[in-house]
Amino acid sequence: MSSQAGSIITRCFFLCLVLSLSCLVFLSLKSTIFLKKPISGGNVHGGSTLKIRPRYTSYDNYIHHQLQKTTNPKLREIWTTRDWDRKIRVFTQFFSDLKHKNLLSNSSKALCVGARVGQEVEALKRVGVCDSIGLDLVPYPPLVIQGDFHRQPFDDETFDFEFSNVFDHALYPEKFVGEIQRTLKLGGICVLHVALSRRSDKYSANDLYSVEPLIKLFNGSDFLYSRKVDGFGLDTEVVFRRTNAIQRSGF
Ligand SMILES: C[S@@+](CC[C@H](N)C(=O)[O-])C[C@H]1O[C@@H](n2cnc3c(N)ncnc32)[C@H](O)[C@@H]1O
Repeated sequence: MSSQAGSIITRCFFLCLVLSLSCLVFLSLKSTIFLKKPISGGNVHGGSTLKIRPRYTSYDNYIHHQLQKTTNPKLREIWTTRDWDRKIRVFTQFFSDLKHKNLLSNSSKALCVGARVGQEVEALKRVGVCDSIGLDLVPYPPLVIQGDFHRQPFDDETFDFEFSNVFDHALYPEKFVGEIQRTLKLGGICVLHVALSRRSDKYSANDLYSVEPLIKLFNGSDFLYSRKVDGFGLDTEVVFRRTNAIQRSGF
């Protein structure tokens, strides 16, 4: 073999070596990027600590499922008789505590989001917050009016105080929060009761594992505090104060 042929073979060998090494570096970088993507059954907000359950095939399907439980006549009978006083007592304790913290007052205009038969609204009235109303898919006059919390039927900056223990029922958490921020006045308070350490029932549309996604969603509010509570299976109270310009939910 001539020395010219030997030099061509050596050059080809090094060229192939450089190309193979480049390909290997490219492939390893690509797989690292893919692995950084969260693995989940549904949409993921704030890392992987808020997951939308994939069970609903359409919005109608979601509403229909929620209504199945809320309109059940036997359950409504229980909620308005056996459960009535017991739930009002517990809610009364929560709202009295918020009054002591100066987060709620008798002059507050208050909304309870997802109030079903309105025990939380009744409790607000009993602690002296007379201008209180509830919102739910099913009305329960005079305590609860009909409406979807993904598109609240209220003007911007209507309320001083909003309470909800149904965040887990939101199919679109960013709309749920966006609507609360839209209808709260500047300086208004939102109190959520959520379940972090146990999974809620089959009517829940999302699963929350920490308060971080809530803090991200409440992007027009200050996070005031969270604390452990015992609220009908919901273990954490999370409190925000609205600060910034109105956040549009884009629904
Ligand atoms: C677990 S129950 C909570 C009832 C009430 N807050 C209580 O503690 O007794 C959930 C409620 O959320 C309501 N809900 C579910 N999806 C809703 C939506 N998109 N808009 C308004 N209410 C909704 C249901 O109708 C149901 O009454």
